[in-house]
Amino acid sequence: MATESAGRAGPARERRPRFQTLSGIEVKRCYGPEDVPDAGSDRRLGRPGEWPYTRGIHETMYRGRLWTMRQFAGFGTAEQTNRRFKYLLKEGQTGLSVAFDFPTLLGYDSDHPMSDGEVGKLGVAIDTLADMEILFDGIPLDQVSTSMTINGPAAMIFAMYLAAAEKQGVSLDRLRGTIQNDILKEYIAQNTYIFPPRPSMRIITDIFAFCADHVPQWNTVSISGYHIREAGATAVQELAFTLANGFEYVRAGIEAGLDVDRFAPRLSFFFNVHNDFFEEIAKLRAARRIWATDMREKFGAKDPRSWKMRFHCQTAGCTLTAQQPEINIVRVTLQALAAVLGGTQSLHTNSFDEALALPTEKAVRIALRTQQIIAEESGVTHTVDPLGGSYYVEWLTDEMERRAREYFRRIDELGGVIPAIEAGFFQKEIADASYRYQQQVESGEVTVVGVNRYVLEEEEQPEILRVPDEVQQRQVQRLRDIRRTRDNRRVRQALRDLRAAARSGENLMPRLLECARAYATLGEMCDTLREVFGEYRDRAIF
Ligand code: 3HC
Repeated sequence: MATESAGRAGPARERRPRFQTLSGIEVKRCYGPEDVPDAGSDRRLGRPGEWPYTRGIHETMYRGRLWTMRQFAGFGTAEQTNRRFKYLLKEGQTGLSVAFDFPTLLGYDSDHPMSDGEVGKLGVAIDTLADMEILFDGIPLDQVSTSMTINGPAAMIFAMYLAAAEKQGVSLDRLRGTIQNDILKEYIAQNTYIFPPRPSMRIITDIFAFCADHVPQWNTVSISGYHIREAGATAVQELAFTLANGFEYVRAGIEAGLDVDRFAPRLSFFFNVHNDFFEEIAKLRAARRIWATDMREKFGAKDPRSWKMRFHCQTAGCTLTAQQPEINIVRVTLQALAAVLGGTQSLHTNSFDEALALPTEKAVRIALRTQQIIAEESGVTHTVDPLGGSYYVEWLTDEMERRAREYFRRIDELGGVIPAIEAGFFQKEIADASYRYQQQVESGEVTVVGVNRYVLEEEEQPEILRVPDEVQQRQVQRLRDIRRTRDNRRVRQALRDLRAAARSGENLMPRLLECARAYATLGEMCDTLREVFGEYRDRAIF
């Protein structure tokens, strides 16, 4: 068959005047060796398991160990979430990930006026150690790695987890897991902060020091780009802002007097994986290279574990559509494949119904099976970094790094991450990007299948999970029983000691652990620190 352009002068006609990634990076028709002149150099590509780890942090990657299949889960009471954890583990997931309800995320007890109507709705309600013991009942904490998505009250929830491990007879040095504990992105995007930046950074460096001594396998921060992206950032902004936050935690640890190699090996990351397949893979590869380069050359880290960026990925919640929800399974599959080809260490795949509600058991099973098919049937795990050397992928990896470093320069000009937060820089950049994207969707420049093209006249409503209102009453009753039956003298003393430590600069973790052991509530611990540190009030940015 004659080619389209045969018999006609001039370049072949194309469907649109320009093609670009979702971040707005212009994409050429075809890439070749001229686009990646120094690709083979050790500073750009290198080899898997070798600095700068562009191709992956382990020499064998998934030939040695698959990524951890770690589904974010939590709703209702600790009993309900414990059942969902056990279901997921039975169906083959290999790591736990706790979603907390809004009162817990914001450091309020379930009977606080601010908690009314939210208890157990968007995550599990945790008030005291009693709930944490139930949450992990029948799950040996030295046999699993547990991620906890908690930020403002991360130290308090972590203390309850440690106390629950002690109740199981598990020594702290055997515990593996992660607390998100990334307060900087809370000011930038998710807003579940409590205290102002400086006391928040002090709490985080206290956790660095405590874990280095007592919980050496614990990942102390999950430096997150996920929420920055979900707030409307581009892939370039997600890459740049997340890494800028990561380097800010490194500076804070060094300023707190810690040797960089004492805490950096336990910093981890968390990225969003969105629709632009190659841009997401290039973003993840560029992230590893930037981290490895700057940790060695800017921060003087000598331990290769400080250079290796380990990250979790979650497929992009903001791409899920309420329309024709089953087609979200295809979006999630492509995004999960991008995470794997980008070298993720841990992965959550969204359920197809999550634009409508928390996932049903069937939906979450399909999401987990998606990972298992990629892992077991697709063959993409048989060789390391199969896309390495692709002209387009390497060019795009370089371009992502270049654009991220351009943002680093702008953040430095503002005086660093915290002054940039206080100036509203990140928030405005994200708001502008979000507005541009929405305009592209509304103009049809960006297609959202089922939403602005290929729509159905009539939508079927799938079965969705509903969290009954009785959850709140049950949770509040348990909380009140605990307050009545615990040793209140011990609680009062523990809270006094916590307040004194907050004032004196002593490491807070031992005091928080004693509060947790005494069944002090999350609200009591947070209120004690609210008295000393005050609360952060966001400046509205227009
Ligand atoms: N060769 C040699 N060793 C290997 C290997 C290989 N190929 N593959 C893995 N390993 C080793 C690792 O080195 C590690 O050993 P170590 O602890 O001694 O170093 C061990 O096997 C386990 O591997 P990982 O540590 O890479 O895997 P984990 O799953 O345990 O940890 C992580 C991954 C990214 C480091 C960790 O921080 C993590 O699990 N993060 C998860 C965070 C998360 O789930 N977040 C969800 C948040 S949900 C949210 O916020 C969204 C909501 O708000 C809407």
